[in-house]
Amino acid sequence: MDSKEKSTEDIVAAFGYYLDGRLMGSAALEYEDGQHFLEWVAVDSSVRMRGVGTSLVALVEDEARARGMTELWAKARAPEFYRSIGFRVLGEKEKGPKTLDGCIGCPEFNKSCYPAIVVKDIREKTR
Ligand SMILES: CC(C)(COP(=O)(O)OP(=O)(O)OC[C@H]1O[C@@H](n2cnc3c(N)ncnc32)[C@H](O)[C@@H]1OP(=O)(O)O)[C@@H](O)C(=O)NCCC(=O)NCCS
Repeated sequence: MDSKEKSTEDIVAAFGYYLDGRLMGSAALEYEDGQHFLEWVAVDSSVRMRGVGTSLVALVEDEARARGMTELWAKARAPEFYRSIGFRVLGEKEKGPKTLDGCIGCPEFNKSCYPAIVVKDIREKTR
């Protein structure tokens, strides 16, 4: 496997949105270094802006809550999407369990992709 390719081995739960048998959206919960993370969030461009991403992330939140987690972390490619569904975007000097170190050197970094670390308090179900 290419070292830059993302591994699926840490996935503990995964959710999909299917249309006519085709996978059109995904979101997954990963367990890595003793922490759970929201990963693999993507929605096909033909069905975006219809709440699919919101629903998939809500399923991951439910799963994380059922596993006893109180907060959910993610490395976000689209921080505004996460902000609109209740996540907080970490400030530059704040430290979280994930960093953007892996993004440095990526040709997309701060050109077409403006990533951020985001976190949500999931103790209360909000959606
Ligand atoms: C980001 C993504 C998952 C959103 O999925 P979606 O199904 O279109 O999102 P929803 O329809 O549930 O949108 C929920 C809210 O987020 C906002 N939103 C969605 N995509 C956004 C984006 N790229 N930038 C800013 N806001 C966005 C919507 O306007 C909506 O806000 P509203 O409720 O105030 O109207 C999807 O655009 C995508 O797959 N993008 C490409 C891959 C990517 O960037 N993934 C991010 C993972 S880190």
